[in-house]
Amino acid sequence: MSIRVWDIPTRLFHWLLVAAFIGAFFTSFREWLIEYHLLAGYAALGLVIFRVAWGFAGNRHARFPEFLKGWGEVKSYIKELVSLRPAKYLGHNPAVGWAMLFMLATIALITLTGVITYGGEEGRGILAGVVSFKAGITAKAAHEVLAYSAIVMIAVHFMAALFHELVLKEKIILSMVTGKKACAGIHDGTDGRQGREKRGASQLLVLVSAVVIAAAGLFYIFPEKGETAFDTGGIEKAAGFKVWRSECAESCHNAFHPSLLPAASWRAMVASDGHFGDSLSLDLKTRQEVTDFLVAYSAEQSASEVSKKIMLSSGQAPPRITAVQYWKDKHADISESVYSRKSIVSRSNCAACHPGAESGSFEDRDIKIPEN
Ligand code: HEC
Repeated sequence: MSIRVWDIPTRLFHWLLVAAFIGAFFTSFREWLIEYHLLAGYAALGLVIFRVAWGFAGNRHARFPEFLKGWGEVKSYIKELVSLRPAKYLGHNPAVGWAMLFMLATIALITLTGVITYGGEEGRGILAGVVSFKAGITAKAAHEVLAYSAIVMIAVHFMAALFHELVLKEKIILSMVTGKKACAGIHDGTDGRQGREKRGASQLLVLVSAVVIAAAGLFYIFPEKGETAFDTGGIEKAAGFKVWRSECAESCHNAFHPSLLPAASWRAMVASDGHFGDSLSLDLKTRQEVTDFLVAYSAEQSASEVSKKIMLSSGQAPPRITAVQYWKDKHADISESVYSRKSIVSRSNCAACHPGAESGSFEDRDIKIPEN
């Protein structure tokens, strides 16, 4: 005989969390997928909040007091497990009960550090302007360590499930789909009642989780407006802007935004006569005006994420943007053949892939590599 153990919300929670985690994982490696990454992250947070609520409001086997057992019971369960004769449980066994709580906490921390990273590094999201850039960098490191720890936990969880299936012959994976478990030989004192208690506060939590998930959806449908590193209106009015534009941007190449290199790089570049194989034929006055402009708006002066990362990554005075380690890391996956496409021609043609390049904006969501 089999009885229903896992109620529908518990099962839905389980598989939606699997989907959210996989989604978050695969969208984490590409800058331009940030919106999907956020969507998956918010969904995971909503699901975790929901599961906490369901730990009080769900059916018997979903409730925390039911499956969070004392240390004595956990210890004896592990001993039985080692001898391959563990007692069978209808709901969570004493070991997985705590493991599950631990995973919930880890996923909550992953989303929290994610929000701090987004607010600190990118200056976006609910913590924009509240947390510092440094805090963002630290949070990102924690975010990654936690995410990889979660992967290890999930792998252990998966192997434990296989162990129950193959060695102990318990059909537990299917039970998370159908909700049903065979109850022969299980003495758990249950009659399978779907008791529900302690509503109040947990209904509020269910509501909160729905709001978080809905916020994720809205966020996805109405993405935040992109902000450029600079208020371009400001920089356009700056002394030297016109000279710089006509000498550096219009007559020779695309405009490399001043926020892309430290002041020392710009000084050295304009002072030298050799300019990447060409010669800079500028008179002294023009040279000075251009230098002053570039220095006034150099990476040191900019509040953008890109400038801060360039400052952290570059040595004294990198000779060019593409020599900065941060730039190299970000573009390491792009093959030479991509740069030689007709609409790109060279890696210095930043605007081919970053439409906002001229105004100093390298927003993740705007990145697009032209097909040919
Ligand atoms: C062939 C297309 C292409 C060209 C040309 C290109 N980039 Fe990129 N750039 C990309 C891609 C793709 C990414 C995202 C890489 C990733 O997801 O890790 C990126 C990422 C970046 C980032 C990181 C953005 C962030 O928010 O983390 C910066 C900054 C950047 N590029 C600056 C430049 C500059 C400056 C130039 C010109 C010197 C340039 N890129 C030229 C394709 C290009």
